[in-house]
Amino acid sequence: MMLKTGQLIKHIGDRTEQDEYIMRLITMDELRDVIALEKYVYRQLPNKQVLCMDSYEEMFDDMKQGAKVIGVFNKARDLIAYRYIGFPGRAEKNLGNDINMPMQELTKVAHLETTVVHPQYRGNSLQSLTLQQAIPMVKDFGYNHLLCTVSPHNIYSLFNIIKNGLRIKALKKKYGTTADGNDGMWRFILHRDLRPITARKTSELLSIPLVDLDQQRKIIDEGYVGLWLFKDTKLLDYVRFEDNLAF
Ligand SMILES: CC(C)(COP(=O)(O)OP(=O)(O)OC[C@H]1O[C@@H](n2cnc3c(N)ncnc32)[C@H](O)[C@@H]1OP(=O)(O)O)[C@@H](O)C(=O)NCCC(=O)NCCS
Repeated sequence: MMLKTGQLIKHIGDRTEQDEYIMRLITMDELRDVIALEKYVYRQLPNKQVLCMDSYEEMFDDMKQGAKVIGVFNKARDLIAYRYIGFPGRAEKNLGNDINMPMQELTKVAHLETTVVHPQYRGNSLQSLTLQQAIPMVKDFGYNHLLCTVSPHNIYSLFNIIKNGLRIKALKKKYGTTADGNDGMWRFILHRDLRPITARKTSELLSIPLVDLDQQRKIIDEGYVGLWLFKDTKLLDYVRFEDNLAF
Protein backbone atom coordinates (compact mmCIF):
# COMPACT_ATOMS: atom_id res chain seq x y z
CA MET A 1 0.00 0.00 0.00
CA MET A 2 1.58 3.26 -1.21
CA LEU A 3 1.29 6.06 1.36
CA LYS A 4 3.37 8.96 0.08
CA THR A 5 6.15 9.99 -2.26
CA GLY A 6 8.50 12.97 -2.15
CA GLN A 7 11.94 14.52 -2.50
CA LEU A 8 14.87 13.95 -0.16
CA ILE A 9 18.26 15.40 0.60
CA LYS A 10 20.95 12.78 1.07
CA HIS A 11 24.09 13.69 3.05
CA ILE A 12 27.33 12.11 1.86
CA GLY A 13 30.11 13.52 4.04
CA ASP A 14 30.12 17.28 3.42
CA ARG A 15 28.23 16.86 0.16
CA THR A 16 24.46 16.65 -0.42
CA GLU A 17 22.54 14.98 -3.21
CA GLN A 18 18.90 15.08 -4.33
CA ASP A 19 17.04 11.83 -3.94
CA GLU A 20 13.42 10.63 -3.94
CA TYR A 21 11.40 8.43 -1.63
CA ILE A 22 8.33 6.29 -1.56
CA MET A 23 6.62 5.46 1.71
CA ARG A 24 4.61 2.26 1.98
CA LEU A 25 3.78 -0.58 4.33
CA ILE A 26 6.43 -3.27 4.32
CA THR A 27 5.72 -6.98 3.93
CA MET A 28 6.93 -9.80 6.17
CA ASP A 29 9.46 -10.72 3.45
CA GLU A 30 11.14 -7.34 3.93
CA LEU A 31 11.52 -7.66 7.70
CA ARG A 32 15.18 -8.77 7.40
CA ASP A 33 15.95 -5.39 5.79
CA VAL A 34 14.22 -3.62 8.69
CA ILE A 35 16.37 -5.46 11.24
CA ALA A 36 19.52 -4.81 9.20
CA LEU A 37 18.76 -1.06 9.18
CA GLU A 38 17.98 -1.10 12.90
CA LYS A 39 21.34 -2.77 13.64
CA TYR A 40 23.22 -0.39 11.35
CA VAL A 41 21.66 2.66 13.04
CA TYR A 42 22.27 1.20 16.52
CA ARG A 43 25.98 0.63 15.82
CA GLN A 44 26.39 4.32 14.92
CA LEU A 45 24.59 5.66 18.00
CA PRO A 46 26.82 7.59 20.41
CA ASN A 47 24.41 6.78 23.28
CA LYS A 48 22.98 3.25 22.96
CA GLN A 49 20.44 3.99 25.74
CA VAL A 50 18.19 5.86 23.32
CA LEU A 51 17.16 2.84 21.25
CA CYS A 52 15.64 -0.33 22.64
CA MET A 53 16.26 -2.97 19.98
CA ASP A 54 13.53 -5.23 18.59
CA SER A 55 14.51 -8.68 17.36
CA TYR A 56 13.40 -10.25 14.09
CA GLU A 57 11.35 -12.83 16.00
CA GLU A 58 9.57 -10.20 18.14
CA MET A 59 8.65 -8.13 15.13
CA PHE A 60 7.67 -11.16 13.05
CA ASP A 61 5.31 -12.42 15.77
CA ASP A 62 3.92 -8.94 16.30
CA MET A 63 3.26 -8.47 12.57
CA LYS A 64 1.37 -11.76 12.55
CA GLN A 65 -0.81 -10.23 15.31
CA GLY A 66 -1.48 -7.13 13.18
CA ALA A 67 1.48 -4.81 13.84
CA LYS A 68 2.41 -2.59 10.88
CA VAL A 69 5.72 -1.26 9.65
CA ILE A 70 5.84 1.82 7.45
CA GLY A 71 8.96 1.74 5.29
CA VAL A 72 10.64 4.59 3.42
CA PHE A 73 12.62 3.58 0.33
CA ASN A 74 14.98 5.77 -1.69
CA LYS A 75 15.15 5.97 -5.49
CA ALA A 76 17.50 2.96 -5.54
CA ARG A 77 14.77 1.06 -3.59
CA ASP A 78 16.90 0.72 -0.44
CA LEU A 79 15.11 0.94 2.90
CA ILE A 80 16.28 4.19 4.52
CA ALA A 81 13.78 4.59 7.39
CA TYR A 82 10.95 2.77 9.07
CA ARG A 83 8.28 3.22 11.73
CA TYR A 84 6.95 0.23 13.63
CA ILE A 85 3.39 0.45 15.00
CA GLY A 86 2.04 -2.14 17.44
CA PHE A 87 -1.34 -2.89 18.97
CA PRO A 88 -0.71 -4.30 22.45
CA GLY A 89 -4.34 -5.10 23.36
CA ARG A 90 -4.59 -6.25 26.97
CA ALA A 91 -0.92 -7.28 27.22
CA GLU A 92 0.98 -6.10 30.28
CA LYS A 93 3.32 -4.04 28.10
CA ASN A 94 0.40 -1.77 27.07
CA LEU A 95 1.70 1.72 27.91
CA GLY A 96 -1.82 2.74 28.91
CA ASN A 97 -0.98 0.88 32.15
CA ASP A 98 1.79 3.41 32.82
CA ILE A 99 -0.56 6.39 32.68
CA ASN A 100 -3.51 5.00 34.64
CA MET A 101 -5.67 4.56 31.59
CA PRO A 102 -9.07 3.04 32.35
CA MET A 103 -9.25 -0.68 31.55
CA GLN A 104 -11.87 -0.27 28.82
CA GLU A 105 -9.55 2.06 26.85
CA LEU A 106 -6.58 -0.32 26.77
CA THR A 107 -7.80 -2.22 23.73
CA LYS A 108 -7.96 1.12 21.87
CA VAL A 109 -4.23 1.76 22.28
CA ALA A 110 -1.74 1.86 19.41
CA HIS A 111 1.98 1.93 20.24
CA LEU A 112 4.55 3.88 18.29
CA GLU A 113 7.40 1.41 18.66
CA THR A 114 10.83 1.95 17.12
CA THR A 115 11.57 4.47 14.38
CA VAL A 116 14.91 4.82 12.73
CA VAL A 117 16.26 6.98 9.94
CA HIS A 118 19.52 6.17 8.14
CA PRO A 119 22.14 8.80 9.15
CA GLN A 120 22.58 9.94 5.52
CA TYR A 121 18.87 10.83 5.33
CA ARG A 122 18.39 12.62 8.69
CA GLY A 123 16.97 16.13 8.55
CA ASN A 124 14.22 15.26 6.04
CA SER A 125 11.58 15.04 8.82
CA LEU A 126 11.04 11.36 8.07
CA GLN A 127 10.20 10.61 11.72
CA SER A 128 7.38 13.17 11.60
CA LEU A 129 6.26 12.26 8.07
CA THR A 130 5.86 8.57 8.94
CA LEU A 131 4.03 9.52 12.14
CA GLN A 132 1.65 11.73 10.17
CA GLN A 133 0.84 8.74 7.95
CA ALA A 134 0.42 6.45 10.96
CA ILE A 135 -2.21 8.64 12.65
CA PRO A 136 -5.03 8.34 10.08
CA MET A 137 -4.13 4.66 9.61
CA VAL A 138 -4.57 3.73 13.27
CA LYS A 139 -7.72 5.87 13.50
CA ASP A 140 -9.14 3.96 10.53
CA PHE A 141 -8.37 0.70 12.34
CA GLY A 142 -10.52 1.98 15.23
CA TYR A 143 -7.83 2.96 17.76
CA ASN A 144 -8.21 6.04 19.98
CA HIS A 145 -4.87 6.41 21.69
CA LEU A 146 -1.28 6.77 20.54
CA LEU A 147 1.39 5.99 23.11
CA CYS A 148 5.16 5.72 22.98
CA THR A 149 8.29 5.91 25.08
CA VAL A 150 11.18 8.29 24.43
CA SER A 151 14.51 8.51 26.23
CA PRO A 152 15.27 11.85 27.95
CA HIS A 153 18.63 11.62 26.12
CA ASN A 154 16.91 11.60 22.73
CA ILE A 155 16.16 15.28 22.13
CA TYR A 156 15.58 14.79 18.35
CA SER A 157 12.96 12.13 18.85
CA LEU A 158 11.33 13.86 21.84
CA PHE A 159 10.97 17.10 19.90
CA ASN A 160 9.38 15.35 16.91
CA ILE A 161 6.97 13.33 19.04
CA ILE A 162 5.82 16.39 21.03
CA LYS A 163 5.53 18.42 17.81
CA ASN A 164 3.00 15.85 16.63
CA GLY A 165 0.71 16.38 19.61
CA LEU A 166 1.80 13.71 22.08
CA ARG A 167 2.19 14.86 25.68
CA ILE A 168 4.43 13.63 28.47
CA LYS A 169 2.29 11.76 30.98
CA ALA A 170 4.89 9.73 32.90
CA LEU A 171 8.64 9.37 33.44
CA LYS A 172 9.93 6.04 34.69
CA LYS A 173 12.43 3.25 34.16
CA LYS A 174 11.34 0.81 31.45
CA TYR A 175 12.57 -2.39 29.84
CA GLY A 176 14.28 -3.66 33.03
CA THR A 177 14.75 -7.34 33.78
CA THR A 178 14.53 -7.32 37.60
CA ALA A 179 11.18 -7.51 39.47
CA ASP A 180 11.34 -3.82 40.51
CA GLY A 181 12.49 -2.80 36.99
CA ASN A 182 15.31 -0.73 38.50
CA ASP A 183 17.87 -1.95 35.96
CA GLY A 184 15.74 -0.40 33.19
CA MET A 185 16.29 2.79 31.19
CA TRP A 186 14.65 6.16 31.84
CA ARG A 187 11.77 6.80 29.50
CA PHE A 188 9.11 9.45 29.06
CA ILE A 189 5.70 7.95 28.32
CA LEU A 190 3.89 10.15 25.82
CA HIS A 191 0.22 9.99 24.89
CA ARG A 192 -2.17 11.55 22.41
CA ASP A 193 -5.92 11.01 22.44
CA LEU A 194 -6.85 10.80 18.75
CA ARG A 195 -10.49 11.67 19.30
CA PRO A 196 -11.58 15.27 18.83
CA ILE A 197 -11.37 16.97 22.20
CA THR A 198 -12.68 20.27 23.44
CA ALA A 199 -10.16 22.90 24.49
CA ARG A 200 -9.04 22.53 28.09
CA LYS A 201 -8.05 25.40 30.36
CA THR A 202 -4.57 25.28 31.82
CA SER A 203 -4.08 26.59 35.32
CA GLU A 204 -0.31 26.56 35.89
CA LEU A 205 2.85 26.42 33.77
CA LEU A 206 6.34 25.32 34.79
CA SER A 207 9.53 25.25 32.68
CA ILE A 208 11.92 22.48 33.74
CA PRO A 209 15.35 21.60 32.31
CA LEU A 210 15.15 18.38 30.30
CA VAL A 211 18.03 16.94 32.36
CA ASP A 212 16.24 17.46 35.71
CA LEU A 213 14.48 14.11 35.91
CA ASP A 214 13.75 14.32 39.66
CA GLN A 215 11.86 17.60 39.35
CA GLN A 216 9.92 16.32 36.34
CA ARG A 217 8.90 13.14 38.14
CA LYS A 218 7.74 15.21 41.12
CA ILE A 219 5.52 17.52 39.09
CA ILE A 220 4.13 14.70 36.91
CA ASP A 221 3.03 13.08 40.19
CA GLU A 222 1.27 16.37 41.03
CA GLY A 223 -0.72 16.14 37.79
CA TYR A 224 1.37 18.18 35.35
CA VAL A 225 1.76 17.05 31.72
CA GLY A 226 4.67 17.94 29.41
CA LEU A 227 3.44 20.06 26.51
CA TRP A 228 6.41 21.54 24.69
CA LEU A 229 10.18 21.16 24.33
CA PHE A 230 12.39 24.09 23.42
CA LYS A 231 15.28 22.56 21.47
CA ASP A 232 17.66 25.51 21.94
CA THR A 233 17.29 25.97 25.72
CA LYS A 234 16.46 22.28 26.40
CA LEU A 235 13.57 23.39 28.62
CA LEU A 236 10.32 21.46 28.84
CA ASP A 237 7.07 23.28 29.52
CA TYR A 238 4.69 21.44 31.82
CA VAL A 239 1.12 22.54 32.48
CA ARG A 240 -1.68 21.51 34.76
CA PHE A 241 -5.17 21.45 33.33
CA GLU A 242 -8.08 22.79 35.36
CA ASP A 243 -10.06 19.57 34.86
CA ASN A 244 -6.90 17.57 35.79
CA LEU A 245 -7.80 14.41 33.88
CA ALA A 246 -5.77 11.46 35.05
CA PHE A 247 -4.74 10.32 31.56
C1 LIG B 1 15.26 10.25 15.92
C2 LIG B 1 15.42 10.15 14.40
C3 LIG B 1 14.50 9.09 13.86
C4 LIG B 1 15.07 11.52 13.79
O1 LIG B 1 15.40 11.53 12.42
P1 LIG B 1 14.77 12.61 11.38
O2 LIG B 1 13.33 12.43 11.22
O3 LIG B 1 15.61 12.54 10.18
O4 LIG B 1 15.06 13.97 12.17
P2 LIG B 1 14.62 15.46 11.75
O5 LIG B 1 14.38 15.53 10.28
O6 LIG B 1 13.55 15.89 12.65
O7 LIG B 1 15.95 16.26 12.11
C5 LIG B 1 15.92 17.62 12.55
C6 LIG B 1 17.37 18.09 12.73
O8 LIG B 1 18.03 17.29 13.74
C7 LIG B 1 19.15 16.60 13.17
N1 LIG B 1 19.19 15.23 13.70
C8 LIG B 1 18.18 14.33 13.69
N2 LIG B 1 18.56 13.20 14.30
C9 LIG B 1 19.85 13.39 14.70
C10 LIG B 1 20.78 12.57 15.37
N3 LIG B 1 20.47 11.34 15.81
N4 LIG B 1 22.01 13.08 15.64
C11 LIG B 1 22.34 14.34 15.25
N5 LIG B 1 21.47 15.16 14.58
C12 LIG B 1 20.25 14.68 14.32
C13 LIG B 1 18.91 16.59 11.68
O9 LIG B 1 20.12 16.46 10.96
C14 LIG B 1 18.22 17.91 11.46
O10 LIG B 1 19.20 18.94 11.49
P3 LIG B 1 18.99 20.26 10.57
O11 LIG B 1 17.74 20.93 11.07
O12 LIG B 1 20.25 21.03 10.82
O13 LIG B 1 18.84 19.74 9.16
C15 LIG B 1 16.89 9.81 14.05
O14 LIG B 1 17.75 10.67 14.75
C16 LIG B 1 17.29 8.38 14.40
O15 LIG B 1 17.12 7.45 13.60
N6 LIG B 1 17.88 8.22 15.59
C17 LIG B 1 18.34 6.90 16.04
C18 LIG B 1 17.18 5.99 16.41
C19 LIG B 1 16.24 6.62 17.42
O16 LIG B 1 16.67 7.27 18.36
N7 LIG B 1 14.92 6.43 17.20
C20 LIG B 1 13.91 6.98 18.07
C21 LIG B 1 13.63 6.10 19.22
S1 LIG B 1 12.81 4.62 18.74
